[in-house]
Amino acid sequence: MSTVLEAAEALRRGGLVLMPTETVYGLAADAANAAAIAALFEAKGRPRFNPLIAHVTGLEAAERFAAFDERARRLAETFWPGPLTLVVPITNEAAVCDLARAGLDTVAVRAPGHPMAQALLEAFGGPVCAPSANRSGRPSPTTLEHALEETGSAAQAFLDGGPCPVGLESTVVAVLDGPPRLLRPGGLAREAIEAVAGPLAEAEDDARRSPGRLVRHYAPEAPIRLNAIAAEPGEAFLRFGDGIDDALSLSPVGDVREAAQRLFSRLRAADRLHPRGIAVAPVPDTGLGEAVNDRLRRAAGFVG
Ligand code: TXA
Ligand code: MG
Repeated sequence: MSTVLEAAEALRRGGLVLMPTETVYGLAADAANAAAIAALFEAKGRPRFNPLIAHVTGLEAAERFAAFDERARRLAETFWPGPLTLVVPITNEAAVCDLARAGLDTVAVRAPGHPMAQALLEAFGGPVCAPSANRSGRPSPTTLEHALEETGSAAQAFLDGGPCPVGLESTVVAVLDGPPRLLRPGGLAREAIEAVAGPLAEAEDDARRSPGRLVRHYAPEAPIRLNAIAAEPGEAFLRFGDGIDDALSLSPVGDVREAAQRLFSRLRAADRLHPRGIAVAPVPDTGLGEAVNDRLRRAAGFVG
């Protein structure tokens, strides 16, 4: 375990840090340091065409390197710190290096709501890129233990912030030309964003600009079967809303927020049983259910 000051020092030296956020654990590096960012891509086995999110303490810090129009500013003011990432034009290319942006003229930015992430960003004093700390294509880690299993060997420091309260990655919204577009459903429900920004345009035609939306993603080892009513022989069954709480329940009371919080740890728990497959009960598509179903479809290998 490291202290926040040790972790900030590791970032300054170009090292990688396991950082808790309210969504999932991230593997963090100095956004301006191309060598550190290269090491980050290497540690995750992440394709270099997939750009990273720059984490900041808040809007003021973000506006040092990115352009927020009135709509983007309103969203940041309403939802930051919190599980919302905004894709906006870059104005200071050195602050978030080319490699981190995959050469794009836009940058994804968010202010995380976790106090330990805020403390680290404050101590470091600049933007920090942090993809989810899983190896590329695997479920995101929602505890330090899971993060250590995934990319721990590459990290010079790690902070234990407990289990992540949201459990799913941030919602990614592009605020560029035209109406705001939902690039990735996530830990902030579409309904909440639309109440502030109006209807979000769909990003189906936008896969190229959110290259993280690869087909098979967030995937455990075992194959996944969706909308299952019951388990078949040899399958582990992730249940929803059946009143029984155990290591394979997404939410005994049928709460999509609880299912989001548990999803990745339950997928890991199911995988550890080495089942023939993982069957998953239907989860409603409302609120955070949209993001839960997005991750499940990707884990199952379907295009979103
Ligand atoms: O909750 C989260 O967002 C977590 C925590 C650690 O903050 N981070 C995370 O990062 O999920 P990552 O790298 O796993 O996902 C970043 C997503 C990818 O889908 C990527 O393609 C997209 O953001 N992205 C980044 N920059 C972009 C850009 N300029 N334009 C469009 N999409 C972008
Ligand atoms: Mg990820």
